[in-house]
Amino acid sequence: MKRERSDWAHLIRLGGLLVLGLVAFVFIRPLFIPEGFGVYGHYRAGAILDGRDHPLEYAGRADCEMCHSDVVDLQEERQSSHRRLSCEGCHGPLAAHAAAPDDVRPVLPDITPACVTCHEKSAGRPPLVPQVEVRDHSGGEACSSCHVAHTPGMF
Ligand code: HEC
Ligand code: HEC
Ligand code: HEC
Ligand code: HEC
Repeated sequence: MKRERSDWAHLIRLGGLLVLGLVAFVFIRPLFIPEGFGVYGHYRAGAILDGRDHPLEYAGRADCEMCHSDVVDLQEERQSSHRRLSCEGCHGPLAAHAAAPDDVRPVLPDITPACVTCHEKSAGRPPLVPQVEVRDHSGGEACSSCHVAHTPGMF
């Protein structure tokens, strides 16, 4: 008899702990749930507004094309193989310039590192992108001493 009772006591203590844990979970969890969580599913709704508050850094190619149609026209006319690249991929983020071109004048990029990033021979790169062994190909010279960035096949 005595032995059975102590077995039960053991289970009751365990059950008590479980209930305590559940109660703590139910009452403490809400303190850690950020406001707006669940409005759009498993997601904090305010994160969308937070994201919107980040200043825009990239304008996108369509904006550049509006004012720099000379670059676009030249690339189309010569069927440049770079005519589909993002302008800001080479020029860097220029939303500030696109919004106020007279106030923010872009610095022309030091382009060799960008050329190398896309064109250095690499087994993992799709064959669509022409690739060179940069060291043998340019002998350490800047790419722009032989290639024109907007129309690279024309030198
Ligand atoms: C609202 C019109 C406008 C938009 C949009 C615009 N630009 Fe410009 N951009 C200008 C003007 C104006 C100049 C100054 C031209 C000059 O003095 O030769 C300029 C100058 C530049 C220059 C420097 C030229 C130089 O010779 O130093 C670069 C590079 C340039 N823009 C790239 C871009 C890119 C890339 C974009 C897209 C993100 C862009 N621009 C969007 C109007 C614009
Ligand atoms: C592959 C890299 C690359 C891309 C993509 C690119 N540019 Fe350029 N851009 C350059 C470099 C480098 C220069 C500096 C000129 C030079 O060294 O010949 C330049 C120069 C310019 C200039 C100064 C005037 C001129 O024509 O030299 C403007 C304006 C310009 N880019 C706008 C654009 C616009 C608009 C786009 C997208 C339609 C664009 N660029 C895409 C690399 C690039
Ligand atoms: C964002 C990636 C990217 C950057 C940066 C870039 N290129 Fe390219 N380049 C390409 C792609 C992609 C092609 C091939 C596109 C196609 O054939 O449709 C290409 C094509 C070329 C070609 C072959 C031209 C032809 O008509 O046969 C040359 C040369 C070249 N790039 C040189 C350069 C130089 C020089 C720079 C730096 C000023 C540069 N590229 C920067 C992606 C890039
Ligand atoms: C001394 C002049 C010179 C310099 C500097 C130079 N190139 Fe070239 N590049 C050429 C010539 C010429 C060709 C065309 C003949 C060929 O395919 O080798 C060419 C072709 C290319 C091609 C196309 C290859 C193909 O298979 O179609 C790419 C990509 C290229 N260059 C990238 C670069 C990059 C990136 C740089 C800078 C690291 C650079 N080049 C610097 C002269 C040069």
